[in-house]
Amino acid sequence: MTQNNKKPTGLRGMSAGTSSICTVGAGSSSLKYRGFDVELLAEKATFEEVAFLVLYGKLPNLSQLKEYKNTLQQLRSLPTKLKTVLESIDKDTHPMDVLRTGVSYLGNLEPESSIAEQQDKTNRLLAIMPSILNYWYNFATFGKKINTDNNEDSIAGHFLSSLFDKPVDDLHKKVMDASLILYAEHEFNASTFAARVCASTLSDIYSCITTAIGTLRGPLHGGANEAAYKLLKQFKSVDEAKTELLKMLSNKQIIMGFGHAVYKELDPRTAVIKQFSKQLSDTVADPTLYDVSCEVERIMKEEKGMFANADFYHASAYNFMEIPTELFTPIFVCSRLVGWCAHIMEQRENNRLIRPTAEYNGVEKAVWVDLQNR
Ligand code: COA
Repeated sequence: MTQNNKKPTGLRGMSAGTSSICTVGAGSSSLKYRGFDVELLAEKATFEEVAFLVLYGKLPNLSQLKEYKNTLQQLRSLPTKLKTVLESIDKDTHPMDVLRTGVSYLGNLEPESSIAEQQDKTNRLLAIMPSILNYWYNFATFGKKINTDNNEDSIAGHFLSSLFDKPVDDLHKKVMDASLILYAEHEFNASTFAARVCASTLSDIYSCITTAIGTLRGPLHGGANEAAYKLLKQFKSVDEAKTELLKMLSNKQIIMGFGHAVYKELDPRTAVIKQFSKQLSDTVADPTLYDVSCEVERIMKEEKGMFANADFYHASAYNFMEIPTELFTPIFVCSRLVGWCAHIMEQRENNRLIRPTAEYNGVEKAVWVDLQNR
């Protein structure tokens, strides 16, 4: 119960089950994947190591990592029928909808016939997701049919080189890799919980993932990085950011990229991506977006006592890498797939149908009136 005796809504603060995958707490070092601080993983590990850790519960050794990366690299190809479907999707479609359709159609072509296939299907989804997105993006935008079988040995490299259809800068690969690590897992967030609900019905992995993509799409969840960029790009200078933001706050507007349903003091991922955003800003001709972002962060702290969440500095970091804005949230999918699949496997391991109850607050006893008399 809250102080004014109102029950918390949105299941806030309630435990909805047990998990050994991740912890989300307070302060720095508050996000841990299988017991490792996310800050440490972003500094020392690669995304593939983190994916292995989250999915299989332990860090890979050198040969396991090599084999895992090799397996993922072999699974990037798009089936011809899937290419045809992607080519038929309109240019104005939101890429999150493209991913939802792409995954769903892949589920028709390569169905999961039993749970024994779940690890193979997870590998396939992790490897193919950037291919689905970037094949469609390049075809819809430039009419170009890219070859998704590039030589990059990491998912970060595959993502960037298939998006731009050319070799990629090392700093950009490093930032993308760290970004994928930061977004990989986050306990019972809305999309993961939705995936677990779907898994609890004994549905297939593709249905669970399309459920999760649809849930992540909203601006209160994964869509916040895109929404934060749309906010920031309106401000042409630090002064303009200050004036306009104060107006927005006095109008009680929600500022995208701030606040969090669980963290109350800080989001431990923010410092990591902020530092990369700064590093990237030093490489571009116009770093105003970084300065504007810092000013917005400062004002939000001063005026509202609020902190920037992980999505906020992703907006400038991705923009400095020239990633199209509408692809920001789909990158989150390429990463969070790891957490979704780990949770689907965990749910299946010890399954019970997730079926809460509701407190009824409707009409107590309704009176029937025949159709002709209503
Ligand atoms: N900008 C301005 N005010 C905000 C705010 C924001 N980003 N986030 C919350 N608030 C305010 C609310 O308006 C509310 O004020 P009130 O008590 O006067 O009504 C108060 O802070 C509490 O907000 P609440 O919506 O209860 O917080 P929540 O824990 O339910 O919601 C979010 C968390 C993430 C949904 C919310 O902070 C938000 O919408 N943030 C922007 C979207 C975003 O960045 N999402 C990504 C999350 S990683």
